[in-house]
Order: sequence, then C-alpha cells, then structure tokens
Amino acid sequence: MGQPVGVFDSGVGGLTVLRELVRVLPGESFVYFGDTARVPYGTKSRETITRYSVEIANYLVVRHEIKMLVVACNTASSLALPALRKIYRIPVVGMIDPSVRRVAALPKRDAIGVIGTSGTIRSGAYEQALRSALPKARIRCQPCPLLVSLAEEGWIERPVTRDVVAEYLAPFRPDPPDALILGCTHYPVLKKTIAEFLGDGTVLVDSGEEAARVVDVLISESGMKKEERIGAAIRFLVTDDPGRFADVGEAFLGGRIADVENVML
Ligand code: DGL
Repeated sequence: MGQPVGVFDSGVGGLTVLRELVRVLPGESFVYFGDTARVPYGTKSRETITRYSVEIANYLVVRHEIKMLVVACNTASSLALPALRKIYRIPVVGMIDPSVRRVAALPKRDAIGVIGTSGTIRSGAYEQALRSALPKARIRCQPCPLLVSLAEEGWIERPVTRDVVAEYLAPFRPDPPDALILGCTHYPVLKKTIAEFLGDGTVLVDSGEEAARVVDVLISESGMKKEERIGAAIRFLVTDDPGRFADVGEAFLGGRIADVENVML
C-alpha cells in the first residue's frame, strides 16, 4: 500500500464520497475515518467542528502519512477548511468549491438551490462561494437536518421520507431551481426521492462526485497517481462501535465494509 489518501466525515455520510473516489481512482489506497462517537457535526459550532477536524487530520497525517486529505463532510468543509489549509502542507480538498465549480459550468444556472445541515447552511459557505462565482444567480438555501437520520435508517423510499422531502423542499416547488446542490454527504442516497419531487428541470449536484473529480485532477497533476490496482487497499477507522458503522455504511458505500478498526484520538 503506497501513501494513502485520507478521507474523513462525522460518520457514514462520507462513504458516498469514498464510493466516488474509488470509482475514479481504483489504484489508490484510502484511509476512511468516521467520527462516529461525536456525530452529528451538523448541529455543532465552528469552534467545535474545527477542533474535531484538526484532531482527525493530525491523526491521519501523523499515523497514516496521508498524501492528501479529503474533507468528506459538508459541515466540516463549511466550518473548518480554512483552518485545515493553514495547518497542513498536503492538499486539502473540501466539498464546497467542487460543487460550485460544477454549477458554474452548467448551461442554465440562473436559480440555484442548496440543501445541507443546519451548520452548513448557517455558515453561509455555499452562498458566499456561489455569489462570487455567479453574482447574478438567485440563490436559495434550505437546511434539511432530518434527512440525515432518514438516510441512516435506510428509509430511502418510505412515505415518511417523501413527506419530509416534500416539507423541506416545498419552497422550491413553485419555481424549481436550475440546479440543487446536495450539500450534505448523506443526501446522495436520497437522490431519487429528491429528483422525483423537484422534477426533470433541476440538475442535482452531488458534492462527493464533484470532489472526486477534483481529487483525480490534483493527484494526476502532482504525479502522485497510482494506476495499478495491485496493493490498493481501504482501511476504515471509527471512534465508536465498528459493527453499527459497517451495517449502516454499506448502503452509503454501495459495497461491503470489512475490518473496521476502533481508534481513540
Ligand atoms: N455528513 C455530514 C455533512 O455532510 C452530515 C452529518 C452530520 O450532521 O454529522 O454535513
């Protein structure tokens, strides 16, 4: 296993990002860190999320000698990215800029929606980045905190999930946006329900998919990319019960999760 790419989230959500990373970079090794003892991040302050993020990044840099850090959590990306980029010399990729760049490249982007945790929306990170990329666009942001629990429960196509999606996204319905950023790494598993509610006129932007594209370009340009699949490995580290992480996480990763290690920070 060469030098791995470090990926972290508050729990299982970042596995939707890992899924995309593995798809575009099958030769790379990854260390995935899920901070399951301290999830959720979406309700916590900037100070707390920055402290958690730095603790995890230190662990990954010192113990696993990662060559790049992917912050596979929109809340941590919204609140802690500037601090992480100040501390570490390795490239640090977050979820915000890749999604904004994708939206800016769409042929139709007059009205943009963003959904995420309360922390992500409250931070204004997406709004700021969108305003500087697309000053004329109409931007509407909506926190959807309950979607995290529904996704973790595996209630993907249940009536209750459709009801909650309908309630949160009701303000978008009369005039659906040209693009909706799924600004939480849990939301890609609910893509179908969200798409059904908003209709074909809205492009759903998956922050993990976009971030994986950016990581691919960065790794390729730096000459660090490993093409050979031989030796490529994924390690899973969590701060709480490994069994629950594996059970819930498989739907997010879209594959089997074996050998989850419990670590203490
Ligand atoms: N995965 C986190 C995100 O993308 C949401 C879950 C949490 O609140 O910790 O923001």
